[in-house]
Amino acid sequence: MSCHLEPTIGKEKHASSVENPPTCDCGKDTSVDHMDNRLYKPTRRKNDVKITHVPYKNTSSLSFRPVMFSKNSVIEECDIGDGTIIWHHCNLYRCSIGKNCEIGSFVEIGEGVTIGDNCKILPYAFICPGVEIGSNCFIGPHVVFCNDRYPTVIEHGVEKTIISDNVNIGAGAVILPGISIGQYCTIGAGSIVTKPIQKIGVIAYGNPAKVV
Ligand SMILES: CC(C)(COP(=O)(O)OP(=O)(O)OC[C@H]1O[C@@H](n2cnc3c(N)ncnc32)[C@H](O)[C@@H]1OP(=O)(O)O)[C@@H](O)C(=O)NCCC(=O)NCCS
Repeated sequence: MSCHLEPTIGKEKHASSVENPPTCDCGKDTSVDHMDNRLYKPTRRKNDVKITHVPYKNTSSLSFRPVMFSKNSVIEECDIGDGTIIWHHCNLYRCSIGKNCEIGSFVEIGEGVTIGDNCKILPYAFICPGVEIGSNCFIGPHVVFCNDRYPTVIEHGVEKTIISDNVNIGAGAVILPGISIGQYCTIGAGSIVTKPIQKIGVIAYGNPAKVV
């Protein structure tokens, strides 16, 4: 089951609240051990901006893993699967993220992006509109996707980028617009991927990235 995160105003507090913090099986108060010492329900901030923010919470005493958010992240109208964790200072706009993913700090994910299940997106990745990422993908820190081949201050159309299931993209790689990468491929750190990589299970690296 996945949840569509909509702001909720004026509803009762979550069962685990500031007054009633969650505890581990060992009975320890876990509300102070993690990213934040309070639990939040999705809520609406002032100026009627749709923002959802819920901090990480320890779930060892719960029978399911809820979606967990740092309260410092901005999450606007996203569909996010169960068990997905979103760390600090992420900006997620109208995207869809599957189950059991981990979104590292300072990641930005643009409107319309889709990400499958069990993906790990490391800090500072920039995933722009037009990108589709399959399941079980690793997106390294500082990976940059591009969707506009000839960028100017005026926005053009968005070129689509498709990352198949089980793809690993090394740190700092840049994926140019309109690229597709086949299943089980690995892209080396710092590579610039300028052409589609249609083969399955190959390694490519360098600038421009070449299959080796
Ligand atoms: C691409 C990669 C998987 C290749 O690993 P490998 O097959 O073990 O390759 P090797 O280390 O044997 O290197 C083979 C050659 O490729 C070069 N090479 C390796 N990775 C490269 C890269 N990312 N960019 C350019 N050249 C690279 C090496 O210098 C070496 O060149 P040489 O034959 O002239 O000496 C690996 O180097 C890599 O980039 N992994 C991603 C790491 C990462 O970003 N992790 C996530 C961060 S948390």
